[in-house]
Amino acid sequence: MHKPSRTIYMDHAATTPVDPRVVEAMLPYFSQKYGNASSIHSLGREARKAIEDARRTVANILGCDPKEVIFTSCGSESDNLAIRGVAFAQRYRGGGNHIITSPIEHHAVSHTVEQLEKYFGFEVTYVPVDKYGMVDPDDVGRAIRDDTVLISIMYANNEVGTIEPIAEIGKIARAKGIPFHTDAVQAGGALDLNVDKLNVDLLSLSAHKFYGPKGIGVLYVRQGTPLLPMQTGGAHEHNLRAGTENVPYIVGLAKALEIAYDELESNNRRIRGLRDRLIKGILSRIPEVELTGHPTERLPNNASFVVKYVEGESTLLKLDLAGVCASSGSACATGLEEPSHVLLAMGFPPEVAFGSLRLTLGRDNTEEDVDYVLEVLPPIVEQLRAMSPLYQPA
Ligand SMILES: Cc1ncc(COP(=O)(O)O)c(C=O)c1O
Repeated sequence: MHKPSRTIYMDHAATTPVDPRVVEAMLPYFSQKYGNASSIHSLGREARKAIEDARRTVANILGCDPKEVIFTSCGSESDNLAIRGVAFAQRYRGGGNHIITSPIEHHAVSHTVEQLEKYFGFEVTYVPVDKYGMVDPDDVGRAIRDDTVLISIMYANNEVGTIEPIAEIGKIARAKGIPFHTDAVQAGGALDLNVDKLNVDLLSLSAHKFYGPKGIGVLYVRQGTPLLPMQTGGAHEHNLRAGTENVPYIVGLAKALEIAYDELESNNRRIRGLRDRLIKGILSRIPEVELTGHPTERLPNNASFVVKYVEGESTLLKLDLAGVCASSGSACATGLEEPSHVLLAMGFPPEVAFGSLRLTLGRDNTEEDVDYVLEVLPPIVEQLRAMSPLYQPA
């Protein structure tokens, strides 16, 4: 098969292109409607209205009050604010020092929790995951102590796509009165975000995962949740996140979220079909490959694998030469010479975890894209294995 004229992008878990309808919605707010939303003149009021309209749009999709929606600079900031903000507020109130999380969180969560443990005297319990990367809500229940101040478990994993039983975990947290945060960055634009159905008190989102711009996020904070601002200054964002609001990006985030949920079912159905074709094709064409993540409870666009006897990075480079953008797990982990902490927590030995390959589909992918990958990937794996001293063909 010839190399296609356009790049085949299968790395939508890393980021997505900005939808042209989103760009169009954002454009006026750069140099025509450029007011500072805190100004009382007409340009300021216009900016304020755009922000509050965007906040209402997000609140509608989350099923919450607009006052509970805080705009941040990214998913990482939302996670940082949720975790550090609740931990410090709870400690100040004499609530305790103990945090519960999972070993498969994104670094925006895990490094924040590690810092609280290392420098601020918090204690952390990591509930285990099974071989599919799934947390057992009963393990969360068992980990709760009198001094537990926060539970943070992600909604869907960025590497293997497993969807966690958030509503059940939330029910357990609520019964004990413990604030429950979920990192929904990968779920945004793909799964139901109704915060009451999910039983969550805090939820993080990032626009660039659902065809919005990079550098803008949301933190949902249920009213009454103790939260100390991490960035102090003016009274922006209900006194929880100081800084002049990024109006065009806030408008873009809301527009992108609105489009994603208007078109959710048809996009998910189509993308799930492509994903299943890709998974089936790879498992049947390449020996010694295993699907990673849950077989059914997974993000509709995630096809992730471990390819034994090859190094994930080498596969990526060869795929790139063939015109295919993929990933070996988390984009943030690229360049780290460590196997994925997610795969290790799921029980994969390090030498197998090094062979991880993540293909994440998106709105623009077609059946031809899938068939092209199914054509080029098997010979790439075969070539790489031919150079591996460990590989003995059956
Ligand atoms: C699960 C998860 N959480 C948090 C983030 C960080 O989001 P951002 O890139 O907006 O900082 C990512 C980004 O890859 C992610 O996948």
